[in-house]
Amino acid sequence: TEEMNYTAKDLVENLKNGKYKNITVLTGAGISVNAGIPDFRSPKIGLYATLKEKYGMDDPTEIFSLQRFIKDPTLFYNFFREQDWNSYSPTLTHYFIGLLDYKGLLNVNYTQNIDALELKAGISKEKVVAAHGNMSGAHCPKCGQSKNIKTFEEYVKRGKIWRCNKCKCPIKPTVVFFGESLPTEFSESMDKIKESDLGIIIGTSLAVSPFNSLPEIFPRDTSIVTINREPIKHIPALGRPKCITLEGDCDDVISNLIKDLGWEQEFKEFIAA
Ligand code: OAD
Repeated sequence: TEEMNYTAKDLVENLKNGKYKNITVLTGAGISVNAGIPDFRSPKIGLYATLKEKYGMDDPTEIFSLQRFIKDPTLFYNFFREQDWNSYSPTLTHYFIGLLDYKGLLNVNYTQNIDALELKAGISKEKVVAAHGNMSGAHCPKCGQSKNIKTFEEYVKRGKIWRCNKCKCPIKPTVVFFGESLPTEFSESMDKIKESDLGIIIGTSLAVSPFNSLPEIFPRDTSIVTINREPIKHIPALGRPKCITLEGDCDDVISNLIKDLGWEQEFKEFIAA
């Protein structure tokens, strides 16, 4: 059928002709790799491979396990200390999502990333669902008390563990660990996904639940474009007719897309603004 032949050319034509007005973008660590933040699961350079190598950990995802954190927060505190989280700049991919928003085409950007580079790239706050939280605040994971992130950063810098005055539990930033619930916004914004005419999935292995079930919410006739360095197992299983994969570095793929769309000038101006 015609639908089965959905191609990159159709994507460009439809975007150009304004056929897509409600674009949902699902993102992961891959879109921040070119900003200098390693992803999690890439062989050799991903955070999990690095932790395996450095500490001989069998299960490096334990760095984000709530149970482990409460017992021994040093692994996470060290990880946090090793990065200057305020120093990173958005990538071309972040700015592209920003441009979609600027053009009034962005429905919602669900991100798994905690670096908040979406906001630095000019994507409106109301359009971003930080599914795994972010580092704008801190809290006690036991009693839920809100804490000041600046104070947390001070403790980390001094190599000290900050403990809750009430329950003595170590304080953590408001990023979602394994064993914690996602922000209420995650489910509250899901209905928006049903309105998508185009879904763009970028830089994620879709290995983590429940985020990896979001693509299932796209209506059956929604066009779905995947931009990733490697194929994502989850996508063919969706069995959607209008699905394409653009394999490669997301910034390269998107840079070419912008050229094909004739949006280069507009994009330059958007970034400069
Ligand atoms: P992953 O590291 O699992 O996947 C990143 C994907 O991006 C991989 O498929 C890479 O091949 C791809 N990639 C890397 N660099 C790229 C580039 N420049 N261009 C295109 N693709 C690139 O990261 P996530 O899927 O975001 O959660 O991981 C999901 C969750 O697992 C994280 O939010 C975190 C982690 O455990 C928690 O800790 C709760």
